[in-house]
Amino acid sequence: MQRLITCILILGFISATFSNAETQVKYFNVMDFGAHGDGTSDDSNAIAKAWQGVCGEEGPASLLIPSRKIFLVKRLKLSGPCKTPNVGIKLKGKIVAPSMSKWVGDSFSWIQILYVNGLTIDGDGGSIDGHGSTWWEKCRKCRRPKSLRFHACNGLTVKSLSMRNSPGAHISVNGMDGALFSQININSPPDSPNTDGFDIAASKNVAIQDSTLATGDDCIAINGGCSNIKATRLVCQGGHGISIGSLGRNKSHETVEEVHVRNCTFIGTTNGARIKTWPGGSGYARKITYEGIILKDVKNSIIIDQYYGIKTPNEVPNKVEDAVKVSEVIYRGFKGTSASAKAINLNCSPSGCFNITLDQIYTVHSKSIKKAYAFCKNIVNGRIGYTVPKVSCA
Ligand SMILES: *[C@@H]1O[C@H](CO)[C@@H](O)[C@H](O)[C@H]1NC(C)=O
Ligand SMILES: *[C@@H]1O[C@H](CO)[C@@H](O)[C@H](O)[C@H]1NC(C)=O
Ligand SMILES: *[C@@H]1O[C@H](CO)[C@@H](O)[C@H](O)[C@H]1NC(C)=O
Repeated sequence: MQRLITCILILGFISATFSNAETQVKYFNVMDFGAHGDGTSDDSNAIAKAWQGVCGEEGPASLLIPSRKIFLVKRLKLSGPCKTPNVGIKLKGKIVAPSMSKWVGDSFSWIQILYVNGLTIDGDGGSIDGHGSTWWEKCRKCRRPKSLRFHACNGLTVKSLSMRNSPGAHISVNGMDGALFSQININSPPDSPNTDGFDIAASKNVAIQDSTLATGDDCIAINGGCSNIKATRLVCQGGHGISIGSLGRNKSHETVEEVHVRNCTFIGTTNGARIKTWPGGSGYARKITYEGIILKDVKNSIIIDQYYGIKTPNEVPNKVEDAVKVSEVIYRGFKGTSASAKAINLNCSPSGCFNITLDQIYTVHSKSIKKAYAFCKNIVNGRIGYTVPKVSCA
């Protein structure tokens, strides 16, 4: 009896603690701020108003976008800084963009989140649809907006978010310190133009993990000014693989270091592990690891392209030694099939690539009668361990 009472007391205590933690968060349901959730009326203003409530709270507060409703959002800017260090967005419903002909936002981005520190976005059950098919055909060459742009949101967490059919890149990460993305599901057709999964620039300490990213362009593009970027346990499908760069365009000085891609699977991508730099630039791409990679029908499984953007040899600038330096790159544990014969392409600048390690690489041509091979240009310095195909050119 004594024990039973103790047990009941403990259970009571636990449930009280849990419900307390729940009730501490003040929710701002967009429906209470005039949202329609009918998929046809523009709910941008209602969401922005609810956000002002969230952002003005002293204690933990969260924007609630409820389930079983569709919210048409024409353009949205959620800005901080917020009073509370504990800000949330709970996305249970579906957010949809207008078609291109009804676009009222700018051509850079659709939904922007700026200067909000400590934000957690939980997309459990919800989704964001960019209505990109209305852009891809008609506006193939023009600027198409990114769907979700984060700028200067330090300590960001985004989990369980589904996105599809962005006009341009799906998620853009810019000027950030500290971000964790997990269970992100991106789904756009392989022939949709410039629909990067993630586009990261000028940011550090960013991790993307346990996600499936089907895109038409880079699965992840890591641009200048980035350090400590981790991509772990991802599936990249269609599109152009996980790319560093392009760096050094128009003679610019750009740097990327400490990029670690681990336990990722590439399916039908035009590249696996890619580093691309323009001739004439300066800076570096260094301390980069691609490890534990599974390839399925991937062209250019491993590629360093220091001639990016050059169409004919006479476009190479006169001072050929000007190049973004590529060094300390480790490729280890690759396994699978290559859809192109040139499975390993180390197309280094005249000044060479240094400290390149290749080990435990096994890639065979998808068509068993064809042979995969490795290619090198200029000096490729480093350590070559076990590789199929053989890298005898380094
Ligand atoms: C690069 O320079 C060319 C002309 O020099 C200019 O037209 C182009 O917009 C520049 N591109 C970028 C990305 O700055
Ligand atoms: C990657 O996979 C290997 C083999 O399954 C495992 O031992 C390792 O812990 C994994 N690493 C990460 C960071 O997921
Ligand atoms: C190559 O690696 C060695 C040993 O880790 C290091 O001392 C050297 O500075 C590196 N060189 C370059 C160009 O990265």
